[in-house]
Amino acid sequence: MDNPSNLPLREKVTPTVREVRTAEEKEHSRLVRSRVFIEEQKVPAELEYDGYDEDPQTFHFIAYTNNIPEGAARLRPYSPTIGKVERVAVLKEARGKGLGVLLMKAIEDQAVRKGYSRLKLNAQLHAEPFYRRIGYTPVGDVFIEADIEHIAMEKELGI
Ligand code: COA
Repeated sequence: MDNPSNLPLREKVTPTVREVRTAEEKEHSRLVRSRVFIEEQKVPAELEYDGYDEDPQTFHFIAYTNNIPEGAARLRPYSPTIGKVERVAVLKEARGKGLGVLLMKAIEDQAVRKGYSRLKLNAQLHAEPFYRRIGYTPVGDVFIEADIEHIAMEKELGI
């Protein structure tokens, strides 16, 4: 890129989140999910990648910092008025700097655009405080999925 001022170019460090549209972004999203769920959490690959990934009604989101893919999440229909948030993942080394919240914001904005009035998710129990902070309320009892404790949570989107 041209740098006519000859001043040092400031490093761009702002994280960005966008909807997955290209084959490269799709590959990046799979990479992040693979690192977090399959390698770190030992979720079997056949559980991690299910038929909803290729469903045209599923929206995938990817988070980048300095063009490095560091987070991913997906939103799919649960009913005509309820969306389900799934596969929220931030690489271990990138946690705690707001990427999780940015991904959830992108998901919620998309959910509102798609006319969902409520979002549901199954939170891993350790992540319950993360979702609580951004307005999700636990519903029902703790259950086990892929050998990991989960709790269902919901948020009204106010539309
Ligand atoms: N417990 C308690 N608080 C948590 C938390 C946790 N597990 N994870 C994040 N938070 C808090 C942060 O401290 C932060 O608080 P602050 O605003 O006061 O600083 C706030 O929630 C936002 O955190 P953020 O940096 O946006 O979260 P993140 O990028 O680290 O992503 C997860 C959070 C849960 C997505 C990430 O830890 C992750 O990918 N974990 C492994 C995969 C996983 O369990 N995914 C959830 C499946 S349901």
